Amino acid sequence: MFDKRIRPRRLRISENMRALVRETDLSAKDFVYPIFVVAGENIREEILSMPNCFHLSVDNAVELAKKISALGIPAVEVFGLPEYKDEIGSGAWDMNSPVQRAIAAIKKAVPEILIVGDVCLCQYTTHGHCGKICGGYVDNDETLKLLQKVALSQAEAGADIVAPSDMMDGRVAAIREALDENNFSNVAIMSYAVKYASAFYGPFRDAADSAPQFGDRKQYQMDFANSREALKEVALDLDEGADIIMVKPALAYLDIVSKVREKIYQPVATYNVSGEYAMVKAAAQNGWIDEKRIVLESLTAMKRAGADIIITYHAIDAAQWLGK
Ligand code: PBG
Repeated sequence: MFDKRIRPRRLRISENMRALVRETDLSAKDFVYPIFVVAGENIREEILSMPNCFHLSVDNAVELAKKISALGIPAVEVFGLPEYKDEIGSGAWDMNSPVQRAIAAIKKAVPEILIVGDVCLCQYTTHGHCGKICGGYVDNDETLKLLQKVALSQAEAGADIVAPSDMMDGRVAAIREALDENNFSNVAIMSYAVKYASAFYGPFRDAADSAPQFGDRKQYQMDFANSREALKEVALDLDEGADIIMVKPALAYLDIVSKVREKIYQPVATYNVSGEYAMVKAAAQNGWIDEKRIVLESLTAMKRAGADIIITYHAIDAAQWLGK
């Protein structure tokens, strides 16, 4: 029966009333903006499947970092395309690689911005897998030694946070140990703890030239049909010393974000990945959706689900739309 004293619509009557009772407040401070760096100078090439995202040489990455910081976005995550690839991905810890040079240059020019390094090997290996291959299989424990080198090189370059995205077992502990032994106890680890084997990474693999040359990543990234397993991965990574837990992708996985949020005290991040971005951009370019409203609604939903941190290619636009 309708109790006429109770009318939820009263609190929706005007914008100010809605603002007064709003539960979730999205801000530029929630965002991390991913950038793709390449060798060379004065390069700014748009990534075909990710409109308005660019391959940037280090000089242009620095300029963009200034703009990002001025918009109130606190952090960038740096991905790189190396100048060479080999079997073990040694370009990933080469101090002369675009990522390490970009981290150092951004740190120098924009010291307040937080720099996140993506710790993985797939962009750097000839086979495109996230670890060392032994007998057709990605060898977990051998890969840990390489990931330690990647994390250390990024910390040495000036990264504030390292973010392992490889999905090897035990990598958070291995990286924490390597950092601590080398006086980087203040470098935080944001673990891609819950990373699903997802078709939503498609455009990124074009952008980063990191598609596996044989097989897929299902032997290390998670099965998207599972959710209890996510909590197991989170518990293990927290035990190993992760400071921030990430769930990836975001939109199709907000149930997971919400579950993780309820279970832990640590900050939760979610990665609004390339495929999610590309779908919005493609529909917007066709005039089929209102891009601004779709983006702000989606990002707010990620925060409402429980994400404290949102890694998103929409960060610059969204920060501008939101104002400071
Ligand atoms: C590297 C990595 C990937 C992404 C972030 N780090 C790709 C993958 O695992 O295949 C995806 C990011 C995106 O799609 O935006 N392992």
